[in-house]
Amino acid sequence: MSTSSVLSTEKTMEKSDLLKDMVAVVTGSGRGIGKAIATVLAQAGAKIVINDINVDLSKATAEEFKSQGFDAIDAPCNVTVSEQIEKMVETVMNKYGRIDILVNNAGITRDDLFMRMSEEHWQAVIDTNLTSAFKVTQPVLKIMSKQRRGRIINIASTSGVHGNPGQVNYAAAKAGLIGFTKTVALEYATRNITSNAVAPGFIDTDMTKALGEDKIKKVVERIPLGRMGLPEDIAQAVLFFAGPGSYVTGQVIEVSGGLYT
Ligand SMILES: NC(=O)c1ccc[n+]([C@@H]2O[C@H](COP(=O)([O-])OP(=O)(O)OC[C@H]3O[C@@H](n4cnc5c(N)ncnc54)[C@H](O)[C@@H]3O)[C@@H](O)[C@H]2O)c1
Repeated sequence: MSTSSVLSTEKTMEKSDLLKDMVAVVTGSGRGIGKAIATVLAQAGAKIVINDINVDLSKATAEEFKSQGFDAIDAPCNVTVSEQIEKMVETVMNKYGRIDILVNNAGITRDDLFMRMSEEHWQAVIDTNLTSAFKVTQPVLKIMSKQRRGRIINIASTSGVHGNPGQVNYAAAKAGLIGFTKTVALEYATRNITSNAVAPGFIDTDMTKALGEDKIKKVVERIPLGRMGLPEDIAQAVLFFAGPGSYVTGQVIEVSGGLYT
């Protein structure tokens, strides 16, 4: 994510205590959309757990949050590995004793046309973008169930809603994540736990920068609002779902500037 977009959030967002005393775990929050989500939740008063597969990035990001006066820790792990997830949850519980908000944000792309898609790339994307949510959410839901309060927010994609050529693995994983979101919503509503998804369109992060300028230009031409989204655009939608009094569950909101695929 570009530094300017983080700074623009800092400038425009007032600090509030909407999420005071709440603990938020954001996976893949070392950079990009996850970092912007962590920033907005911290500005709303939440205590933040920075998780990333990149240990140094997790640490540096948590330090950055602390230097801005936010209450934050780093709990790095690979969200595809159950033993590492257990340790992450243990670290959070030892420090804060609760988890109120879980944002399943960590994700990767391994794009290719369907006939050229290798099984390895298929599986890597399913593991990181879908199975990880199952593995991380299970232990967290046990904690939220005892608390009788929780917010699960999954970062899907418009690709998972509408499909996208070259992304059969990614679209399948994100569509699966939407089914996951709706089912968790139904199973956990009686425990005062909501489960919702945000489906970003085309957002300015390192993930999309990797596509190169030509491809980016072509996609931007198709966006009705005429620009790429910023990570903060996604973070604002997450904040909506994270609020304590929310009566919304099982929903998917597309944050895409009107882009349909
Ligand atoms: N950028 C977009 O246009 C866009 C569009 C739709 C959806 N999304 C989704 O938003 C989320 C964030 O994307 P981004 O653009 O910020 O990507 P990004 O690549 O900039 O950041 C993703 C972060 O996740 C971390 N990560 C990757 N695998 C991990 C693992 N196994 N365990 C823990 N951390 C891991 C990475 O180290 C990285 O810091 C992803 O789920 C992505 O699919 C992005």
